[in-house]
Amino acid sequence: MRALKILFVTPEVEPFVKVGGLADMVGALPKELAALGHDVRIVCPAYGCVKRVGEWRALAEPLGVDVGRAAHWARTWETVLPGSAVPVYFLENHEFFGAAEVYDSPWGARADNDLRFAFLARGALALCQQLAWTPDVVHCHDWTTGLLPVMLNTTLRDTPLGRAATVFTIHNLEHQGYSPARVINFARLPWADFHRDQLLIGGAVNLMKTGLFHATKLTTVSPTYAEEIKTPVGGFGLDPVLRFRGGDLVGIVNGIDETTWDPARDRALPANFSAADLAGKAGCKAELQRHFGLEVDPRVPLFGVVSRLAAQKGLDLLADALPRILDGMKVQVVLLGSGEGGLEGAFRWAAHAYRGRFAAHLGFDGQLARRIQAGCDFFLMPSRTEPCGLTQLYAMRYGTLPVVRATGGLVDTVDNYVEGQGRGTGFVFQDATAPALLNTVGWACATYYDRPAELAGLQQRAMAQDFSWRRSAAGYVRTYRWAVERRTGRPPE
Ligand code: ADP
Ligand code: GLC
Repeated sequence: MRALKILFVTPEVEPFVKVGGLADMVGALPKELAALGHDVRIVCPAYGCVKRVGEWRALAEPLGVDVGRAAHWARTWETVLPGSAVPVYFLENHEFFGAAEVYDSPWGARADNDLRFAFLARGALALCQQLAWTPDVVHCHDWTTGLLPVMLNTTLRDTPLGRAATVFTIHNLEHQGYSPARVINFARLPWADFHRDQLLIGGAVNLMKTGLFHATKLTTVSPTYAEEIKTPVGGFGLDPVLRFRGGDLVGIVNGIDETTWDPARDRALPANFSAADLAGKAGCKAELQRHFGLEVDPRVPLFGVVSRLAAQKGLDLLADALPRILDGMKVQVVLLGSGEGGLEGAFRWAAHAYRGRFAAHLGFDGQLARRIQAGCDFFLMPSRTEPCGLTQLYAMRYGTLPVVRATGGLVDTVDNYVEGQGRGTGFVFQDATAPALLNTVGWACATYYDRPAELAGLQQRAMAQDFSWRRSAAGYVRTYRWAVERRTGRPPE
């Protein structure tokens, strides 16, 4: 079968710029696709905060981008995904991407996001034209890339690029991207399409909905989430569109980059370890306890959190349950996260009130995230919704048992412990309530103290899970071929 040309257009890519798991996915899947022989390239904005990892080379030609009344220009920087030959192109433009912010300013979503991401979508396509490289498939990620499929279906349909199929991945339906109607003129798109398909309502364009309407095929990051978003409860207002397009939607669970997330080789850890030799994990736990000013005691179970502090993640349930957890059980809890002020305040208070037993680092720190994944016994993820979730996968790989709510990708990746039957890779609860979380933490804690052999079994099973990208990459290749066939009328030979 012929190799495919695949363009990823994305607002984030690890290790250059990361807000959440989208960056991890876009930083890993292309490497796996390239290893399968496909020609994969990535386009991302060169925000002010972008980390210039590796060698960067500016392309000689400036890139003209057909947006707005007069043409806008970008400088294109080319580098590769570390550990691969996958080209990554960063579009530099001071007007749209000069600031450090990816999506939000300190006051909320940036008011010019519509223009910035229309520029990204058109700029990525302009780059293909400039390089005379026509992708078979453009893989779009979340609302920021929502205008790209409509560009290919309308203004660019009769150009060579118009043959390209689009695959649109929903990483998180809760962020849909509402833009003022001005974006239609700015992106030089036909108004009729926005009226006809009700993409424009009340003077605002829903960018996610636009992508969902226009993309050739749709994916999301777990099979359970693919079902949830077709229901009124999980659809965040877009369930009618997702039911309408249900035949074109597949759920493919995310993998993890096993080369960079490997406890035997991770250089961020004070000691390395593997399933066969866990001695180093005890060293990671002791170092973490010291780091957070907790009592250094290998016998006390240590629970960890690494998360955006957003309502979606259910950490208000943890804030509610925390006093009863810490008053009622001999445990320690550490948290790394940043986000909503109310949650930050709650955890700051708890760190003060339970000094020595609960500690929080409010910020973003990739190295500390790894040390928490490695040094804890349990990993807490009480998410209200979770499209896939990567942190529970990292936890399991690092021998840390996830305590999760049964939602989205958490259902698909964590097997609930069944006492005495040698089954399970973590602890799962159903209700998004503080008592349900409290009880399940209690269950994990009792297992730790009373059934250490069972706990060791859970840990071995968790560490033996195959969360590599290999399987999921095959699912994406199938979806790309399906999209190409739909777009061009014949399968890629
Ligand atoms: P989401 O994308 O919804 O935030 P995921 O579990 O898919 O959830 O991915 C989150 C990613 O962001 C993980 O790689 C996690 O380690 C990282 N992360 C989240 N919060 C922080 C933080 N405060 N510091 C460092 N890394 C973080
Ligand atoms: C989103 C989701 C998360 C998922 C990630 C990568 O940010 O919230 O569940 O793992 O995207 O697909």
